Amino acid sequence: MKKIQDHYFKEARKQGYVARSAFKLEEMDRKFRLLRRGQHVIDLGCAPGSWLQYAAKKVLPEGSLTGVDLKQVKIQFPESVRIFQSDISMLEESILASSRFDLVLSDMAPDTTGIPSVDSQRSYDLNSQALSFAQRHLKPGGTLVLKAFQGEPLNRLKSEIRLCFESLKLFKPKSSRSESVEIFVLGFGLLPQS
Ligand SMILES: C[S@@+](CC[C@H](N)C(=O)[O-])C[C@H]1O[C@@H](n2cnc3c(N)ncnc32)[C@H](O)[C@@H]1O
Repeated sequence: MKKIQDHYFKEARKQGYVARSAFKLEEMDRKFRLLRRGQHVIDLGCAPGSWLQYAAKKVLPEGSLTGVDLKQVKIQFPESVRIFQSDISMLEESILASSRFDLVLSDMAPDTTGIPSVDSQRSYDLNSQALSFAQRHLKPGGTLVLKAFQGEPLNRLKSEIRLCFESLKLFKPKSSRSESVEIFVLGFGLLPQS
């Protein structure tokens, strides 16, 4: 296990990523072709910024990139990248105006307690907010990527995603630590919202 951590950690340093998480997004992108030049993408829970670094290489300069996190993102991005330091639940809808995104990414993770039922519920609560955000800000046909914790609330989340997306996939990247309960839930093809 240690070996895998070391590999991704070293590789992140070598490639200039601020965190090894970049490889999770890269794996999902390779498998599902998520990111393309010219897309409009928002990354919820973006600090310290490795997903933004990866996404910037794929969608800019024709596309746009926005990040939101409770914490400050300390690394530098091109001026066109908008980063808001905010709780997603407090994010002023007005600052996004009528923005519509092709892709909503969320790697948001709650503070964990070590009690699986509490942590998976906290993860579910964050994902409910991300799903509601996606329903307001994704273009019809757009894609949502959520990091979830395995456990009972994941079934509820899957049912809710199935109601508003054409299809759903689950993915556990190789770069995700095998002992981690995290799994990614992808909703493809947002259905028109009434
Ligand atoms: C695993 S990190 C994200 C790593 C990021 N994808 C990267 O590659 O650098 C999870 C982030 O979710 C953020 N987060 C948790 N709850 C949040 C909330 N309610 N609103 C905004 N960000 C939140 C945390 O502050 C933390 O930085």
